[in-house]
Amino acid sequence: MNSPAGASALSQDELKAQVGRAALAYVGRGDIIGVGTGSTVNKFIEALGGIRKDIRGAVSSSVASTERLQALGIPVFDSNDVEELAVYIDGADEIDGRGYMIKGGGAALTREKIVAAQSRRFVCIADVSKRVNTLGAFPLPVEVIPMAARRVIRQFARLGGTATVREKNGAPLVTDNGQHIVDVTGLRITDPLGFESEVNQWPGVVTVGVFAHQRASVCLLGTPSGVQTLR
Ligand code: 5RP
Repeated sequence: MNSPAGASALSQDELKAQVGRAALAYVGRGDIIGVGTGSTVNKFIEALGGIRKDIRGAVSSSVASTERLQALGIPVFDSNDVEELAVYIDGADEIDGRGYMIKGGGAALTREKIVAAQSRRFVCIADVSKRVNTLGAFPLPVEVIPMAARRVIRQFARLGGTATVREKNGAPLVTDNGQHIVDVTGLRITDPLGFESEVNQWPGVVTVGVFAHQRASVCLLGTPSGVQTLR
């Protein structure tokens, strides 16, 4: 993937809307598509509303996206009822030049990884601020079983990271899966494939927010000079 150029004249919201619309080019007639979660995906869902009669429906990665899809009259299928999806469209918190990503800022990482894994192609939609050379500046989300949180936090400390349990309204945030999220700062993830494999096998880790095994096949990057397609 090449690096983007230029300084932003459009707002971040406009850049997200731009890539949300551009992602429609990857939606085939009659498809059931995978839909991610987040403010960029919300722009995509809005655009999808305009062609809702051309698709069969969607598999969604979160309760929030399901509600938005259904409000537009788009049928939402259970992932267990669909063997394979042609495409999964989702945002990212960071994406590098190889299509490796950090995801989970919206706490939907586990379902996102499941839907990505059942899709032939992952189209990442992101504004230019998400493009990085090395993953790790964004706090890495990790979904954990609550009883393992302290142990996982100590394991990240041994790697040089500082992890905290994500809170909402003064209490640990509870994911759509009934689990907690720890966010880890201070990491520099130079081997995303190896890192993902290692952390995934720590007891109590449900999903680590490094998407290397499920990396993006294509990234539509919103830049001031238009949408760049990075492969
Ligand atoms: C949610 C995610 C999102 O894709 C990621 O946080 C990007 O969100 P946004 O488009 O709002 O910047 O992984 O779990």
